[in-house]
Amino acid sequence: MVLVESVANSERYRPTRADKFSFGLWTVGNSGRDPFGEATRARVDPNDSVRHLAELGAFGISMHDDDLVPYDATPAERDQIVGRLRRTLDETGMVVSMATTNLFNHPVFKDGAFTSNDRGVRRYAIAKTMRAIDIGAELGAPVYVFWGGREGVEAMAAKRPADALDRYREAIDFLCGYVLDRKYAMRLAIEPKPNEPRGDAFLPTVGHALAFIGSLEHPEMVGLNPETAHETMSGLSFYHAVAQTLWHGKLFHIDLNGQKMGRYDQDLRFGSEGIKDTFFLVKLLEESGYQGPRHFDAHAYRVEDAAGVWDFAAGCMRTYLLLREKARQFADDPEIAAALMAASVAELAEPTVGAYSADAAAALRSAPGDPNVLAVRGYHNERLDQLVMELLMGAR
Ligand code: GCO
Ligand code: MN
Ligand code: MN
Repeated sequence: MVLVESVANSERYRPTRADKFSFGLWTVGNSGRDPFGEATRARVDPNDSVRHLAELGAFGISMHDDDLVPYDATPAERDQIVGRLRRTLDETGMVVSMATTNLFNHPVFKDGAFTSNDRGVRRYAIAKTMRAIDIGAELGAPVYVFWGGREGVEAMAAKRPADALDRYREAIDFLCGYVLDRKYAMRLAIEPKPNEPRGDAFLPTVGHALAFIGSLEHPEMVGLNPETAHETMSGLSFYHAVAQTLWHGKLFHIDLNGQKMGRYDQDLRFGSEGIKDTFFLVKLLEESGYQGPRHFDAHAYRVEDAAGVWDFAAGCMRTYLLLREKARQFADDPEIAAALMAASVAELAEPTVGAYSADAAAALRSAPGDPNVLAVRGYHNERLDQLVMELLMGAR
């Protein structure tokens, strides 16, 4: 596969630790199993994944408890497995950038985890999460993610939504308490998803999750882990979802991938769909001051063999770096600057009326402006967007 056309180019877009690229163990470890067919690739040892990703220029990995420690491991086996990963991380200079719990795979979670109707299952889910948080803390993960894979319903009569949200909140509040009690330097991040595997999921979008956080006991400890595929599946703009998450100061982590609108969760190589949306997303992350990992929750096509997995991983990072460079070109392009001016982009940053006062209200009422005059101007958005297209297509 020819990914690079010259040595100069390959150096220019070579990822470094400073770029903070990170991959889930389950992403490069994905065996190609889907609802219609068995695995097409062998399982990858997590330690091999860490070594391979380090060679490619990533800085970290993320993991579910079960990606590392099998269900039936004894405490001694658990310590040995975690210790071995710790040594591989130290040898390669890699970090664990995020940890999470698998609360969806085992049949015990078929009716949900924190929101199962069965109180025993809910208690088990919280206990499993505390054990997994311990592993995350031991490996230095600064963020702990909550994706509610099985939190939802098919039969609407089967759960009262308000009860489910009460139990969801109870679980997150309890686990915040646990993290504080243990003095772990860890923040929590909720990952919304509209459906799949459940017919309807609780906390389906970024907006729902942001509102939910406001109801928690420790809202300052909890943020979001939005995912490209999840907002895009529901027909929403991931760019705008991330922008609002940043605006609330809640972008604690991010799951990057590629996705066509209206499909099942495809988890495609980053940037492989929706190039313009992906460009604006990268531009947003780069210009926002976001310091967290650029984390990929995606996997290689099922048709790939073991080598294709590493083409996939390298491609995710390379596309990010190419788009980061395009974002810099955008900022330096004088014609684009003129088009931004013509569209009055900067004017939106100017306060409209300022804080309320009776005087300001009276002044505004006496001179509100003439709508027929204000309606005349054009905003020249066609020209601006065409310049973006030409930049992305290499015509600038
Ligand atoms: C999915 C989710 C998961 C989560 C992961 C970490 O659609 O399956 O995106 O991959 O991100 O479980 O919480
Ligand atoms: Mn995800
Ligand atoms: Mn997903």
